[in-house]
Amino acid sequence: MVLLIDAPERRTRRERYDDHRDAEALAWAWRLACEGSGLCRSVDTPTGATITTPKVTAVRLGRRPELVVALQPGQLPADVRAVAHRLAPALGGVALRVEPRGLTHVRVTVLDVDPLADVVPPVPPVRSALDPLILGRDEGGDPATLDLSTAAHVIVQGASGSGKSVGCYSLLAQLAGAPDVVVAGSDITGLLLAPWAGHAPSGLVALGTRDPDVHLAALARLVDLMDQRIAAMPAHRDAVALDVDTPVVLAVVEELPGLLRVLDQHGKEPGQRGRTMLGRLLGEGRKAGIRCLLVTQRADAKIIGGYERGQASHTLSFRIDSASGLSMLHSGVTADQAAAHATAAPGVALLSAPGVPLSRLRAPRTTFAGYVAAVAGPLAA
Ligand SMILES: Nc1ncnc2c1ncn2[C@@H]1O[C@H](COP(=O)(O)OP(=O)(O)OP(=O)(O)O)[C@@H](O)[C@H]1O
Ligand SMILES: [Mg+2]
Repeated sequence: MVLLIDAPERRTRRERYDDHRDAEALAWAWRLACEGSGLCRSVDTPTGATITTPKVTAVRLGRRPELVVALQPGQLPADVRAVAHRLAPALGGVALRVEPRGLTHVRVTVLDVDPLADVVPPVPPVRSALDPLILGRDEGGDPATLDLSTAAHVIVQGASGSGKSVGCYSLLAQLAGAPDVVVAGSDITGLLLAPWAGHAPSGLVALGTRDPDVHLAALARLVDLMDQRIAAMPAHRDAVALDVDTPVVLAVVEELPGLLRVLDQHGKEPGQRGRTMLGRLLGEGRKAGIRCLLVTQRADAKIIGGYERGQASHTLSFRIDSASGLSMLHSGVTADQAAAHATAAPGVALLSAPGVPLSRLRAPRTTFAGYVAAVAGPLAA
């Protein structure tokens, strides 16, 4: 094991001795914690079974100590992240940041404050809708992002009061003033999309529960726009080029189960039409520059079918007390993660996204008033 020390020449002999002792103690604590959290392996040898542990190859001491660890064959950084909450207390921290280091090692930083414990303040707006948007702060204290230029669709689920709407305020407020986005869709609560109603082309934002036809009309306009864009797409392209003239369209459906209920109350046909149009937007919208953001208390099969769910690149679950509900959106969720998530604080969500292991984040807290002011600001200017 290598001990990494900044400015080692300035250390006294006594300090160097203490550092080595502390580093050895940390490596030993890591070993014991691994045994208790399932990261060790039992290997058969001629003299009997031997337990092997992911080996600490270097330690850097400090307020946030770091360990460089060699993964065992077949282990991934995600395997360490999955048990980070078990390892952290044994290492004297409240959370761990786990980053890949090459293909075979991880760097584990021991954090002394839980990045998800504190309220995350609102984030500033982006200049372009194709710049990464911030979904929240991840467990390592870094931003978790959503890049609309490459993402497909987003599904957000969570129990009542878990932070879905606030998470959406935080996300949409970042788009205020971006010249290359249209925020549109259906919002039976009349809150989330209300600030955008004066901004989107007429009829693309449907609010309230009074008239189901305005919701069907908004979805139909979005489907028309999608069809026009696909029809006009040059033969050599597989997706439209997005810019100010062809803005990315964020088709938001707030309270999806409520929308379906409102449509179903008016007979079989409106409900079926609504579902068909949503299915088309999810299935074909991406290449036409349309990204759907669906918000629901539960993404169960009656609300969003398997095919539609499969079209989402990003899925976010705020607090939800059903393990089966969680696994609808996060196939790799463990029983441990599901149990912990049943009592998650408002604004804390599990995120599945391409290339990122299942992780937790805390969304910024943007008040409704702050959201309305953010969207109105650039419009008023
Ligand atoms: N990111 C956050 N940080 C801190 N507090 C939050 C956060 N998100 C939500 N809250 C708190 O939780 C409350 C409920 O949040 P929100 O209205 O977003 O829930 P919801 O999931 O949309 O609920 P419903 O399904 O009833 O609409 C907020 O008023 C706020 O007090
Ligand atoms: Mg809500």
